[in-house]
Amino acid sequence: MNLTSTVIMRPARSVAGALRLPGDKSISHRYAMLGAIAEGDTRLENFSTGADCASTLGCVRALGVEVQRTGNSIVIHGRGPKLRAPESPLDCGNSGSTMRMLSGILAGQDFESELTGDDSLSRRPMARIITPLEMMGARITSQAGGRPPLRVRGGKLKAIRYNLPVASAQVKSCVLFAGLLASGETAVSEPVRTRDHSELALRGFGAELTQMENETRIAGGQKLRAIEAVIPGDISSAAFFLCAAALFPGAELTIEDLLMNPTRARLLDILILMGVGISVTQLQEQYGELRGTVNVEGRGLKGATIAGADTAALIDEIPVLAAIAPYTEGGIEIRDARELRVKESDRIAAIATNLRAMGAQVEEREDGLRIPGRQKLRGAEVDSLGDHRIAMAFAVAALRAERETRIRGAEAAIISYPGFFDALENVAQR
Ligand code: S3P
Repeated sequence: MNLTSTVIMRPARSVAGALRLPGDKSISHRYAMLGAIAEGDTRLENFSTGADCASTLGCVRALGVEVQRTGNSIVIHGRGPKLRAPESPLDCGNSGSTMRMLSGILAGQDFESELTGDDSLSRRPMARIITPLEMMGARITSQAGGRPPLRVRGGKLKAIRYNLPVASAQVKSCVLFAGLLASGETAVSEPVRTRDHSELALRGFGAELTQMENETRIAGGQKLRAIEAVIPGDISSAAFFLCAAALFPGAELTIEDLLMNPTRARLLDILILMGVGISVTQLQEQYGELRGTVNVEGRGLKGATIAGADTAALIDEIPVLAAIAPYTEGGIEIRDARELRVKESDRIAAIATNLRAMGAQVEEREDGLRIPGRQKLRGAEVDSLGDHRIAMAFAVAALRAERETRIRGAEAAIISYPGFFDALENVAQR
């Protein structure tokens, strides 16, 4: 990505309005991948507008699947479980989800494929998927330390029982997708429950899974049938707007048709505990995914401690929670978040550096942060480090800083939400 543009964010007086968000990124990836190996035409509305999901569509096309896109409506002409060998390396761009989850499907194909990515993705750990996929019978080569590019030599897979050593929905999904193509019954258990979109999507596409506590089982050889779905708004993108509203007593914001899957909505509980007024109406469900309209009302902002299972559930929302932490009464402490160091950037270091640039005191720890409350921030030059969630988190912090903030590399937001800065400007009151 060419990270050259700087966005200038001015402070706001409040936040108000109503919005709808592009479709959830996690769900868009999964529906696109499963649609590719299903039988029939999968029709998706409100598909994610982010570059990451475009990477998934690009890979799926390179594997011989016809995909039509008109705006945010997608039709995927499923090929069934057998894909076509790609003619060139599959470019996953910045997307860890694409590389990790698609590898599960490629492991069950009768050909070799190569997966590449940008500089950030090329630094991310892949041993976590290589280990289980090799246990199932695939052969995978990687660069030193299990880094991309990966070459996946697929073939006949056998079922495994696998205990995930890290809480990772991407790895769980990778093993379940490979399990679908394997012979026998694959069982995956996880140390804490992570997002369950793959389980819900597999069921939506007609597969049977069994679930007992933290273990999910899938029998291989099941056929998938195409679906027609409207993808709910991305709650991880909504997090920036929810936190922006939380910053201003009296702010009122409505987000319509937002994903409300309980494994993704922990931010709402945390904000309520911090004193923010939140109500959810018009709850609906499609293929097991809950969605609803969320009304937020800014009141005071108490502090919070996020640790253990909460950290895993909130992993993508921690950058923005940390960015608003100085404005809370009691500060925010984040523990058990070592995984943040291997996201699109080292998010712990990125948050600490940028908050300090804005004049905040921050304690950086190996696996987290402690950010005291009641601090005043001043506008400064901050850097996205090419990480979409860092760019967007600091746009939110800037709303209550003194003077304007310059966000370098702000276009990283296109990874999950290309229209982000315009949407934030639309609700910021000046
Ligand atoms: C995701 C899982 C999480 C998350 C990522 C999306 C998914 O990653 O951070 O943005 O869609 O399954 P890990 O599986 O690495 O925790």
